[in-house]
Amino acid sequence: MKKYFYIVFIFLMSGLIAGPYQVKDYSDLLGRLQGISDPLLKMHFTLYQGYVKNTNLLEDSLAEMRKGGEDKTIAYGALKRRFGWEYDGMVLHELYFQNLGREKDLSSKSLLYQKIVKDFGSFENWRKDFLATGMIRGIGWVILYQDSTNGILHNVWVDEHNINHLAGGNPLLVMDVWEHAYITEYGLNRGAYLDSFYNNINWDIVQQRLVH
Ligand SMILES: [Fe+2]
Repeated sequence: MKKYFYIVFIFLMSGLIAGPYQVKDYSDLLGRLQGISDPLLKMHFTLYQGYVKNTNLLEDSLAEMRKGGEDKTIAYGALKRRFGWEYDGMVLHELYFQNLGREKDLSSKSLLYQKIVKDFGSFENWRKDFLATGMIRGIGWVILYQDSTNGILHNVWVDEHNINHLAGGNPLLVMDVWEHAYITEYGLNRGAYLDSFYNNINWDIVQQRLVH
C-alpha cells in the first residue's frame, strides 16, 4: 500500500514540474535491494527530483534572459555554468537507478564480461579498480565508460556531477558516491556501501548499454 502512495506521489510531482525534462519513476526498486533500504532510496528519489526541477528552471531562465537581451551578463554566464551541474546530476541519477536491481550475475560468456577481461586483464582486476575508484576522497561518481572512438573501457572518477567526464564516452555502469547515497545507512563506512552497490548491479541493463 505504501508503495502505491509513493507511485501516486511521483506522478503528482512530475505534473508539477514544467519543462522539457520529466521525473522518471524508479519506485519498482523499492523492496528489491539488499543493503540499500527503502527510506534511503526514497530520500534519494527526492534529491533526484530536485535536479530535474532545477534543470527545467535553468532552461526557462536562460531562454527568458536571451529574450530580454541579458545574454552577455555575469548572471547569464553563471546560470550557463550551473546548467551542466544540474543536468548531469539528473542524468547520472537516472543511469544509477536504472543500473540497480540485480536479477542475475554477469555471464562469463557475455560480450561485456569478455571485453572487461580484455581491457583490464581479468574481471577481478576491473572489479577491484572500480571499487578502489569509489574510495577516492571527495564527492562524485564512478563510471565505467566505453570510449566511443575505440571501444576501450575505463573506470572514471567524476567530481561532483560534471567534472572529469570522458567527452563522447558511453556510460555503462554508474555508481553514486555522494555521501547522501550511503551515509544514513553506513556512516563513514563507504566501503560497505560500495560492496552493497556492487551486489545490486543490474547487469542486464549494463550489458544493454554496451555499443558493439
Ligand atoms: Fe545521489
